Amino acid sequence: MAEEDGVRRRDFINIAAVSAAGVAGVGVVIPLVSQMSASADVLAASSSEVDISAIKPGQAIKAVFRKQPVFVRNLTPKEIAEANAVPLSSLRDPQTLQERTKEGKENWLITMGVCTHLGCVPLGAGEGENRGEFGGYFCPCHGSVYDTAARIRKGPAPKNLEVPEYEFTSDTVVKIG
Ligand code: FES
Repeated sequence: MAEEDGVRRRDFINIAAVSAAGVAGVGVVIPLVSQMSASADVLAASSSEVDISAIKPGQAIKAVFRKQPVFVRNLTPKEIAEANAVPLSSLRDPQTLQERTKEGKENWLITMGVCTHLGCVPLGAGEGENRGEFGGYFCPCHGSVYDTAARIRKGPAPKNLEVPEYEFTSDTVVKIG
């Protein structure tokens, strides 16, 4: 478990390092295509503006906001339906997908990529990563499982992945923070 923690920490340090290296202006964000290198799976910008135009339904990217990872995910209609089918009474931290997204943009799920248990970076935003049994995110540190609305469904985490303040500045750009 300690080694896994270490791996997640390194992952985060890599994300932070890329952020610190900086990209002037609005970062160009492209969908994840490979997990081969740490830098390839980090789509970070020094500003908090993220270009979401290339994120296809079913895909997600990792951005960085205030040195912490943020997941920006374009949900498929099936993922939206799955989230909406869950009775709120069954949730540990009851929230609808609608409450966690912007009106008319229910497919854009934007959350911090920080597990609410002890702060590891969950898997699921990268292409081919384990999304866990509820199809959202899976934290490998101690096995917290999040659903397609990034709500906690299983494991030790007490809360849903946090939704940061954000706004759409256009159809293709999101300003986080
Ligand atoms: S930090 Fe994610 S399950 Fe413990």
